Amino acid sequence: MKHKIALIGFGTVGQGITEILLEKKEELKKKYKFEYDIVAVADFAYGNVYNPKGLDMPKMLKEAKAKKKFSKDVVKLNTVQLIEKCNATVVCELTYTDLKTGKPAVDHVKAALSSGKHVVTSNKGPAALKYIEMKKIADKKKVKFLIEGTVVAGTPIINLTEGPLAGCEITAIKGILNGTTNYMLTEMEKGMDYKAVLKVAQDLGYAEADPTGDVEGHDARGKVCILGNVVMGVPMKIDEIDCKGITKITAADIKTAKEKGCRWKLIGSIEKVKGGKVKASVSPQMVELTHPLAGVMGAKNALTFTTDLLGDVTIVGPGAGRKETGFAILTDLLRINSGM
Ligand code: HSE
Repeated sequence: MKHKIALIGFGTVGQGITEILLEKKEELKKKYKFEYDIVAVADFAYGNVYNPKGLDMPKMLKEAKAKKKFSKDVVKLNTVQLIEKCNATVVCELTYTDLKTGKPAVDHVKAALSSGKHVVTSNKGPAALKYIEMKKIADKKKVKFLIEGTVVAGTPIINLTEGPLAGCEITAIKGILNGTTNYMLTEMEKGMDYKAVLKVAQDLGYAEADPTGDVEGHDARGKVCILGNVVMGVPMKIDEIDCKGITKITAADIKTAKEKGCRWKLIGSIEKVKGGKVKASVSPQMVELTHPLAGVMGAKNALTFTTDLLGDVTIVGPGAGRKETGFAILTDLLRINSGM
């Protein structure tokens, strides 16, 4: 099947998925009968471009890497107009996350779904704040709203629960959902001090530009909210989730944990409780060294699903990155290609 793709946002993830699609073009065609043209790209830094027959992506990658504006197929349409008017069959929303308003991503997703286009996104805003509303539009228009990339990059979480774990009831989820803080806690255990390790995490590109969202737990809370709404199927609002970050963890706390045979982890958790409700929170917890999450060190992420039929199932993997998040977009594109 030939897909016409629009990329909204051409930063790390937009360029990452483009590189993957170019590198794997033949393999995707041969193995999955997946063919594509990227017909539209919108980016606030490089401009908005459209060619219904397909854009010159290698040239655009070069221009973006040189921090130059796109020079070919430039259009005067704003991003919402471009989404509505282009001939894309699937829109990938890959702009920056705003967990307060969800904008501008929410407007992009709404415009795409309302005009009958599938949406694949790595943006936590629309998924954490407006999942139910967006899903309703998608269902009405008989298109997909797929969000694998919003939780733990390409490490399969949403697709795991909807695919291989389908048939199991998931009663609890407990996870390390933020790489920055896990990296910081790992290094603090080795003796590095909070401020110094935060600086290293920023230099390594794990932390957000404003790391408050990482260290205060807000990034993890967004992911908990998505897991609650999507995996547990329980409508919840982000600001109803108790949230505490790692800013108050001291060297003395780390020593105490060690003495107790434990290790500090920033844990996002959701648990089914009586009355069809769930209890959700983000907080630093002393995890016993025997627990699978305790061994997850550095910038890695991990989730343990408690299920009725399998008991605990834990998955460990990267939670961010150019190719890693690009892969999440690819898996959702392949789901659309397979007709799910
Ligand atoms: N800053 C985030 C993290 C990136 O450290 O996990 C992915 O949301």
